[in-house]
Amino acid sequence: MVFTVRSLGLHGISGYPVLAECDLSAGLPAFTIVGLPDAAVNEARDRVRSAIKNCGFTFPVSRITINLAPAHVKKEGTLYDLPILVGILAAGGQLQVKQPDCAFLGELSLSGQLRPCAGMLPMALRAKEEGIRALFVPEDNAPEATLAQGPDIYPVRDVGQLVRHLSGEELISPARPWVPAPQDTALPNFSQVKGQEQAKRALEIAAAGGHNILLSGPPGSGKSMLARRLPGILPGMTRQEALEATQVHSVMGLTSPEHPLIDVRPFRSPHHTISSMGMAGGGSNPKPGEISLAHQGVLFLDELPEFPKEVLEVLRQPLEDGQIQISRASGTVTYPSRFMLVCAMNPCRCGWYGHPSGRCRCTPAEVKKYLSRLSGPLLDRIDLFVQVDALDFDELAHRQPSQSSATIRARVNEARSRQRERQHGASNAGLDRDGLDQFCGLDEDGLRLMKGAFDRMGLTARSYDRILKVARTIADLDGSPGIQSFHLAEALQYRPPEYLRR
Ligand SMILES: Nc1ncnc2c1ncn2[C@@H]1O[C@H](COP(=O)(O)OP(=O)(O)OP(=O)(O)O)[C@@H](O)[C@H]1O
Ligand SMILES: [Mg+2]
Ligand SMILES: [Zn+2]
Repeated sequence: MVFTVRSLGLHGISGYPVLAECDLSAGLPAFTIVGLPDAAVNEARDRVRSAIKNCGFTFPVSRITINLAPAHVKKEGTLYDLPILVGILAAGGQLQVKQPDCAFLGELSLSGQLRPCAGMLPMALRAKEEGIRALFVPEDNAPEATLAQGPDIYPVRDVGQLVRHLSGEELISPARPWVPAPQDTALPNFSQVKGQEQAKRALEIAAAGGHNILLSGPPGSGKSMLARRLPGILPGMTRQEALEATQVHSVMGLTSPEHPLIDVRPFRSPHHTISSMGMAGGGSNPKPGEISLAHQGVLFLDELPEFPKEVLEVLRQPLEDGQIQISRASGTVTYPSRFMLVCAMNPCRCGWYGHPSGRCRCTPAEVKKYLSRLSGPLLDRIDLFVQVDALDFDELAHRQPSQSSATIRARVNEARSRQRERQHGASNAGLDRDGLDQFCGLDEDGLRLMKGAFDRMGLTARSYDRILKVARTIADLDGSPGIQSFHLAEALQYRPPEYLRR
């Protein structure tokens, strides 16, 4: 007898429907899984066998064949333990599954307990599309699965409980939709940073428009300190943005049952020893990299010139497209990677190049070599450049607390919602050609100012567009419908310092 159980699989960060067909037939006892199982799926045989026995059922003395369809797609992971177990029990008549539109997912322990698996949200979202009405998942995955707002989610603790539910003996109640509890995660606050008004202003603009930014300056001037305070002023996330970020974290197994929704923008700060694959994603079982974990949030590269050139090179295409494609023999997966790039660096190895004190002891050749790691195309994608100079004694000794992150964030949120309304959700940094023409027009004064700057600073077409976008954000922070020439004048201050110009 053949019994078919519905389940789901994971490809990249999307779910797809899987059918587990279980056939029990006469012949020498055997247990085979077909449908391109990986090692973990194959080991399901041992877990399922033990779980069935340890939960008081009989493991059928038959020839058992499990086909995981579609058979040409590679199946990975431990999530098929539960559908296989349900299939074997149902095919052998030990269990009745009356509901046709239900699906099962989950890893089993040898004693029949369910263990959580990664990628629950994307699979639950797909289940919703497939018209599945009831989804049985491990207890710890249930809160996340409810985020899909699709099928009824049944949290399952162990096999016994599931069997009692299916036989109508003792029903499991569907999980209540997860809603965030008010949380007050204490993020580092801008009020702790003394002075550095220009850098703070630039970070506020960056957060408001989603602009890439680079902070450079001597050691100890507070670049890392400033960048790490960015999460506290980033604009709130829409539900759609939060779901997208959560899906990436979910497939990496980085979501928690207590707070499964990534509703605070991610802030990723990989160390400069990271590999290209860690940055971009990939591997034989492809996984998202740092640029995708930073999706809808910030990728912070501290000590930028220390990153190997090839690691920085992989950023180019995703910075442009907002996604990355990874090709493998088994096919191509696409991961989203729309992030804001924040970089910090010293201008030379000793850190004091260009400082009025003349402390820098690097030769021009050394400075050149140090900066040569930063490719032009990467710098071309940065909208705001800020020089962060060391504070003088008066500023440091100044006791008055600075503006708090909450105050700055309120302005950022307002500016962002203006962009959303005007540009159908796009941030200023994400404007395309049409958007630039439509929303970033200059008046006569502005055009004159821009022309002067173009000739004087030797701007390129690309930097021209970037200046316009930054000016648009400055106007949004100011609540101004049009870009005024003083908005543009401020935008022109954030051009690269001389040593970074080519
Ligand atoms: N503006 C400031 N207000 C208060 N403290 C500051 C300020 N700038 C620097 N500091 C203090 O100096 C320390 C060093 O700053 P930080 O690590 O951010 O410097 P940096 O510019 O990243 O230096 P490096 O180039 O060596 O990485 C901070 O942890 C902080 O204690
Ligand atoms: Mg630092
Ligand atoms: Zn130096």
